[in-house]
Amino acid sequence: MVREKRIKIKSIGIYLPEKILTNYDLEKMVDTSDEWITTRTGIKERRIAAGEQVTSDLGVEAAKMALEKAGLKPEDIDLILVATNSPDTIFPSTACWIQRKLGTREMAAFDLQAGCTGMLYGLIVSEGLILSGICRRVLLIGVDVLSKITNWEDRTTCVLFGDGAGAFVLEESQDESGFLSHCWGADGSLGELLMLPAGGTLHPASEQTVKDKLHYIQMKGNEVFKNAVKRMGEAALEAVKKAGLEKDQVDFLIPHQANLRIIEAIAERFNLDRNRVVVNIDKYGNMSVATIPVALYELQQEGKLQPGKIVVMVAFGAGFTWAASVYRC
Ligand code: UT7
Repeated sequence: MVREKRIKIKSIGIYLPEKILTNYDLEKMVDTSDEWITTRTGIKERRIAAGEQVTSDLGVEAAKMALEKAGLKPEDIDLILVATNSPDTIFPSTACWIQRKLGTREMAAFDLQAGCTGMLYGLIVSEGLILSGICRRVLLIGVDVLSKITNWEDRTTCVLFGDGAGAFVLEESQDESGFLSHCWGADGSLGELLMLPAGGTLHPASEQTVKDKLHYIQMKGNEVFKNAVKRMGEAALEAVKKAGLEKDQVDFLIPHQANLRIIEAIAERFNLDRNRVVVNIDKYGNMSVATIPVALYELQQEGKLQPGKIVVMVAFGAGFTWAASVYRC
């Protein structure tokens, strides 16, 4: 059933680090090839944060751009919500570091961790807070600097990721635009397939955890791949159904950018032409929570988010977690 009250994206901001790391650069670092990376993943290059740049630095730039585009000042928002898997520190939250860097008035700020699905989880949480009247506006930031938690000697993971940030200013919609539906889920029983084992209470940091390289992302790529195709395909279809729409009414599909073959498998399930499926993995790799806001921003820049257009966003990540949202521009 379609809800009467909806939230909308008032503005989008993004930030991408300047440094570009190409597949050819990676050929000099590990036993890989441009050919393998391109055919298996669709990635050609990715952005990498500078040595001194931390997650909140990227997030704050995306946030400033979103606020500027909305014509708002930091004091006009009520909550800074940050979706990330690579926080500046375990605590305080990256949201609090961003609040400090933005120099806002006192307001609520916290992080949300849901693997690469974080931005969509963040949208759903924001919607609850806005429509219940707890917040008037939420600044939702999706940011990851996976380059700093990647094992650069492990060719099975280091070729996949990139750094980036995206931010949405969210508020209640006063017109026909806004989110029509969402669906979300998680299956913690498969958590070990994609994890960063150490640094928490399971394996507190020690000489041994460093020696064993447990402070880096570990992934069973094949298993993650199969689950991603299944869960993202199902979630996207369910969200469309919940919105009271048919598949062929979808104008654009924005899948989380983890692998071009995953994206193509979902597009096929949706029966969508290639030009209606947003793909930018070639330029940025897998930026985790930042893939969806950056893709949406690029679609907007191309002038494609015309009023009434239907956009489906769908993601999958560590947890496992998954979610899909249907947006009417
Ligand atoms: O964002 C969260 C969700 N993440 C994902 O959805 C990622 C999902 N997984 C994937 O995208 C893919 O599984 C990968 C791209 C990670 C791997 O592709 P694959 O087709 O599943 O390859 P594989 O892991 O089955 O490995 C095939 C071969 C292996 O060699 P052998 O054992 O067949 O001799 C690997 O050692 O490819 C080898 N290989 C590489 N070769 C060159 C793995 N990584 C590389 C590499 N360069 N970078």
